[in-house]
Amino acid sequence: MISTIDKLRRWSRRQHNAGKRIGLVPTMGALHEGHLSLVRAANERCDATLVSIFVNPTQFGPNEDFAKYPRPLEEDLKLLQTVGSPEVFAPSVSAMYPDGFETNIHVGGVSEPLEGRCRPTHFDGVAAVVLKLFLMSGADAAFFGQKDFQQVRVVEKMVADLNVSIDIVVCPTVREADGLAMSSRNRYLTPNQREQALSLSRCLDAAERLLVSERMGDVVQLRRALTETISTSPDAVIDYIAVADPKTLRELDRIDPLRTPEVVVLLAVKIGNTRLIDNRVYRVMG
Ligand code: PAJ
Repeated sequence: MISTIDKLRRWSRRQHNAGKRIGLVPTMGALHEGHLSLVRAANERCDATLVSIFVNPTQFGPNEDFAKYPRPLEEDLKLLQTVGSPEVFAPSVSAMYPDGFETNIHVGGVSEPLEGRCRPTHFDGVAAVVLKLFLMSGADAAFFGQKDFQQVRVVEKMVADLNVSIDIVVCPTVREADGLAMSSRNRYLTPNQREQALSLSRCLDAAERLLVSERMGDVVQLRRALTETISTSPDAVIDYIAVADPKTLRELDRIDPLRTPEVVVLLAVKIGNTRLIDNRVYRVMG
């Protein structure tokens, strides 16, 4: 395991000198099958896989779960042995943010709505740490999950705007057998809340029926129906249900298959103290 930036740079140089292509999987640890699917994708496409494990303080808001975010490092390392024992980079907070750190990376546009509105400094924190990881690892490709749909758009925009030479690979959301999207935060849920959390994936199933089978075009009506599916869970508090253009993340006021042949439904819902997000992309073109 590598824990200093100097050692990471040396590792990276060795891989490149040996003609190897580096695949980076940035994570905050508490690994699950969703993370492992990214590692497998990196193993397939690259010659050397690097997994970063770093609970990044700057992407958490003041009232969020930074302190209690799970950090089961030993278990994580064991899980990584099941997917070819990739190199692991697990730096300290002071190595990543030494005293005097004062650069901000703000990606405009796609970072503003949805998560950006609920968590105003979140994507600045994500953008800065992801860019630092790209630069210090020298990775040729980086692997992200569709689970964090807006995060992918923000990273892609940053890479395009700043001409970062790296391929961004997006991998599908991995779900539990009953449909719940895997998340490190699922472990906060009580058994009863875990059951209620199914309302998110059920809502996305309902959207499939309404958008694709019934071709509902009226977004107000659609959101009302989706809100009802979430409200079947007594403890669910909706942060947002958005029907948006998957490219720009701008919310649509009606579904027009000619203008947006694909639409994305994005959800953020609190079940008790646990905030869950999920999304799905639908092809509405006939
Ligand atoms: P984290 O939540 O640990 O997620 C790491 C990566 O795993 C992200 O790309 C995320 O989209 C992906 N992922 C999470 N759950 C998934 C699932 N069920 N199926 C597929 N992929 C899944 O996202 C972060 O960490 C951080 O913001 C980070 C990018 C590491 C920057 O700190």
